[in-house]
Amino acid sequence: MAAEKWVLMVTAQTPTNIAVIKYWGKRDETLILPVNDSISVTLDPDHLCTTTTVAVSPSFDQDRMWLNGKEISLGGGRYQNCLKEIRSRACDVEDKEKGIKIEKKDWQKLHLHIASFNNFPTAAGLASSAAGFACLVFSLAKLMNLKENQSQLSAIARQGSGSACRSLFGGFVKWIMGKEGNGSDSLAVQLVDEEHWNDLVIIIAVVSSRQKETSSTTGMRESVETSLLLQHRAKEVVPKRIVQMEEAIQNHDFSSFAQLTCADSNQFHAVCLDTSPPIFYMNDTSHRIISYVERWNRSVGSPQVAYTFDAGPNAVLIARNRKIATELLQRLLFFFPPNSETDLNSYVLGDKSILRDAG
Ligand code: DP6
Repeated sequence: MAAEKWVLMVTAQTPTNIAVIKYWGKRDETLILPVNDSISVTLDPDHLCTTTTVAVSPSFDQDRMWLNGKEISLGGGRYQNCLKEIRSRACDVEDKEKGIKIEKKDWQKLHLHIASFNNFPTAAGLASSAAGFACLVFSLAKLMNLKENQSQLSAIARQGSGSACRSLFGGFVKWIMGKEGNGSDSLAVQLVDEEHWNDLVIIIAVVSSRQKETSSTTGMRESVETSLLLQHRAKEVVPKRIVQMEEAIQNHDFSSFAQLTCADSNQFHAVCLDTSPPIFYMNDTSHRIISYVERWNRSVGSPQVAYTFDAGPNAVLIARNRKIATELLQRLLFFFPPNSETDLNSYVLGDKSILRDAG
């Protein structure tokens, strides 16, 4: 290592992802191992993404992190688990221009500064932790010259937040639950890339950007402990849906895709209601949006739009093509105008997209 002071930095940008077959429930809380496989679509980073800069310097005397400009503690398990996993795989790094040479063993002593920004509300059911941990792991892996592939990195991101493992890829992504007790086979794989089904357009109706009352982590713990429906869902329902969803995606079969996406979202929220005490993530506006989309789809005779809701009231609407998306947006703005008596804020347009490395 050079004696003089220097800073080495990497910046990366990672989009969030939206599950169309949901992850809900862990079989191991520390390693974050799920009770079922899940499938998601990765969004366009222009709208919902995290940008993270990671820096290393001999002048840093401790690991520190800032989220949206505010310093946060790295003390708790999840950040530390990710940092530990990455440091243990770090390799030699050399920057000849700057005259910097970091040897593998140096990474154990060097400290990191991490600055992360979300361009969307944190913890409002818009999967901020997914983009956040994926971006953290991806940028640190670049900085420390890890040799692991994206799937292997996804198994590290998973230990930050389960859904984060799916944000390491663009397009449609499957998180395989795995069988091993140590979690080595619980990782994400890309099913198809972002070009495969590029007719789809995603619109997010931000019903509320307030912080959710029950975090996903707490909610799914309570569901695992109390919901019989969750057991049935994980064992009997999801395995069949995963096969059908993969087929629908491969064949661009929007009818099956929409039917499975809506049914899985509704079952996830039914599990939340089946939890004791029950968890309510959706509100009246969410329910009205569901009824509206259902009526529209029925009136046309085949699905034009799919809806899905995560751990919050915001609606993620997937239109079968651009023409339908334009019509959907017009209808939504008419029936659900932002800042009306519903607490609807705004609409965000997304596309499927790729992981971008800005470093
Ligand atoms: C409803 O990944 O946020 O969005 O693993 O505890 O961090 P932790 O939970 P998280 O849960 C996401 C749940 C979901 C469904 C999904 O994204 O599959």
